[in-house]
Amino acid sequence: MNNDKQMYTGKRFDITIEKGKGTYVYDVDGTEYLDFTAGYAVNALGHCNEIMINALEEQSRKIFHISDIVWNPIQTKLANFLVEKSGMDAIFIGNSGTEAIEGAIKLAKKYGNTVSANQDKYEIVSMVNAFHGRAVGSTSITGKEKYKKAFQPLLPGSKNSPINDIGALEEAMNEKVCALVIEPIQGEGGIVSSTPEFLKAARALCDKYDALLIFDEIQCGMGRIGELFAYDFFGVKPDIVCIAKGLGGGFPIGAFLSNEKANLFQPGDHGTTFGGNPLACAVSYAVMQEISKEGFLEGVKEKGEYFKKKFAEKADGIDFEYEIRGEGLLLGIDIGKSPAELVNQCIKNGLLIIGAGETVLRVIPPLTVSKEELDKGIDIIIKSIKELEK
Ligand SMILES: Cc1ncc(COP(=O)(O)O)c(C=O)c1O
Repeated sequence: MNNDKQMYTGKRFDITIEKGKGTYVYDVDGTEYLDFTAGYAVNALGHCNEIMINALEEQSRKIFHISDIVWNPIQTKLANFLVEKSGMDAIFIGNSGTEAIEGAIKLAKKYGNTVSANQDKYEIVSMVNAFHGRAVGSTSITGKEKYKKAFQPLLPGSKNSPINDIGALEEAMNEKVCALVIEPIQGEGGIVSSTPEFLKAARALCDKYDALLIFDEIQCGMGRIGELFAYDFFGVKPDIVCIAKGLGGGFPIGAFLSNEKANLFQPGDHGTTFGGNPLACAVSYAVMQEISKEGFLEGVKEKGEYFKKKFAEKADGIDFEYEIRGEGLLLGIDIGKSPAELVNQCIKNGLLIIGAGETVLRVIPPLTVSKEELDKGIDIIIKSIKELEK
């Protein structure tokens, strides 16, 4: 849409999508695309899923919006479900991933001020190449200069340490640190997994310096890697976990959960107008029930392994160097150079796909994707690689 008057915050493909169903989306002229982006890992159950439509329709006949001066049944149901599943102590429901991170930062600052008498426990350590959102706090702890340089000065005391480098983390941590923030698997940064040893060391260092360990599971949580909470995959529990994206399956919602130690907010400390919106909670609860059904998460893991195996088989014999990384359906094909050309070629061939980091093609389809659809996507990627080689 070249007559669109929205602010220019990012380049878009010259495609105007009007509809979606399952793993497919359709542009205004009816051209079909297989969708391996799921709206940045959001559409967990695919597009226009009937279960979500029914939940939204049913809730819309009860109430659209009510503020946080009263309780609401579906909000309570979702909150209690997530608290129970996570084993955490409490949840705050907001509207987006960024908002979840901002809330977690506030909680960490309050923790620092509570345990340290002279307000000097305010530093936040996060990872190089991490992505945590676009507001001032989340931009401050993001680990890429290109997202930060125009907005300095950002939050004082924010510093980045390289992922999986225990020695560097030991140097970065000290008594002044109130929180260490990690994406267990970096999404935007190029699908880079933390090692369990690194996360264990992170946990131990937080305990040593009385800092909170915060996991940003906004991209890797909510079933994307075959676990509702990514920390279950790694066996290391944070003090706070931030979630969003797949949580609403396409309806805007985000949240952060904290354990008892970090559950420090008092009335007046935090709030939201739209957070916990009944429509969002109804859709989210329906998505969560679906994801929690027996076999669903196993299926995500299995499909991830299937993709890796099939891609290797089909790429065999073509002159193409790559590495596949990631877990479940949070996968990256590192091609060792900018993926921009390949992304464009895939789109020309009917596969909507995006990059991650500097050299990675990101594979994040709906969690409901079928093996046949994975095959079709792989065929398009291979065909596109071959066409570019000519
Ligand atoms: C790991 C991670 N954290 C935070 C965010 C920000 O979430 P949102 O765009 O919903 O504000 C994102 C978005 O891509 C993300 O991938």
